[in-house]
Amino acid sequence: MTPLAALLAERIRRFGPITFAEYMRECLYHPVHGYYSQPESARFTDYYTSPDVHPIFGRLLARQFAEMWEQLDRPSEFLLVEAAAGVGRLAKHILEFAQTKLPDFYAALRYVAVERSPARCDQMAEQLARFLQEGKCRPSIEIPALIPAGCIFSNELLDALPVHRVRQQEGRLQEIFVANDGGTFVELLMPLSTCAISEYFAAQHITLEEGQQAEAGLEACDWIGEIARRLERGFVLTIDYGHEAADLFDSHHMAGTLLAYAKHQASESFYAAPGEQDLTAHVNFTALRLWGQRRGLETLGLIHQTAFLLALGQGNQFADLYYDGMDETDRVRARLQLKTLIFPEGMGERFQVLLQQKSVPLAKLTALCAL
Ligand SMILES: C[S@@+](CC[C@H](N)C(=O)[O-])C[C@H]1O[C@@H](n2cnc3c(N)ncnc32)[C@H](O)[C@@H]1O
Repeated sequence: MTPLAALLAERIRRFGPITFAEYMRECLYHPVHGYYSQPESARFTDYYTSPDVHPIFGRLLARQFAEMWEQLDRPSEFLLVEAAAGVGRLAKHILEFAQTKLPDFYAALRYVAVERSPARCDQMAEQLARFLQEGKCRPSIEIPALIPAGCIFSNELLDALPVHRVRQQEGRLQEIFVANDGGTFVELLMPLSTCAISEYFAAQHITLEEGQQAEAGLEACDWIGEIARRLERGFVLTIDYGHEAADLFDSHHMAGTLLAYAKHQASESFYAAPGEQDLTAHVNFTALRLWGQRRGLETLGLIHQTAFLLALGQGNQFADLYYDGMDETDRVRARLQLKTLIFPEGMGERFQVLLQQKSVPLAKLTALCAL
């Protein structure tokens, strides 16, 4: 039994079953024992993300952000807010590239690296020391209260937000709660803990089939609504794996999309090692559109990472992959890493990019030129 499992079992014994969302929140974000509260050192044994593959990912994003700044008529300050900045790897790639290749944009750039895990913020401080000292970048545990002009972006944040789990049973939605039976976590079907869950499905015109299970990502909806409220003028760029609601809740997903990850193995053993494995659910892009729209965000497009990176890199034949004096072996390696990011069977079609804007009605972005 992990230390967190013991704490959760005791809590359930004293206060009764908890929603799955509450269980997932503790597993990922418990201040001491949560999976993301640990420093990142052991993490590559479980999963890796696009910025880990090659800096080209951040460099192409930097080009897209520079274009956004142009479309906002080059404000003297452009707030670039990275939500879930982790240890700052992507921030470093973006800042270094902007400084050397996009100097006008860099002069206006103010980078806020938002990360809720204190352990990862400490690691970020090392990674970004130079930019922090220059005042070009600042770490934060939350999104700035007001973003007059800029962009809020994230890579693999929303799949890591807690979800409620439901099951259509006897013609109505019921919620999966977590109980504990003699030291073993068990699932219980109970009435919905909040009417926000039925509202979530109704707003998307989704009725589950009898016996179907699904996730309701209420926290992701709250998140997009809140950032939309804080953004005065600019863009929201979200990269993650997921689907539109019509696909997410179709008959191919009768058991939902929740998975546990440990040592690069996915499983449905959600209760195997609380706090010591990752838990993730596919993102519902329809919900992000709808809940964003309620707060003034207009969707510009949803495209696969393949199309997104190709649109941004093809203009100069991916010259941003290389640096002066690079030898041929490193060039070949860089091209292979680019393929991992772009090829459909790699990360290219697993990940999608959602682009939204607020108060930039005539926005035209290179990344979406194929739409
Ligand atoms: C899967 S990791 C992705 C990290 C990074 N974006 C990357 O691509 O490598 C998810 C990160 O989101 C952070 N996180 C979760 N909820 C957050 C929130 N509300 N605000 C900021 N960071 C959050 C976690 O602490 C964790 O570092």
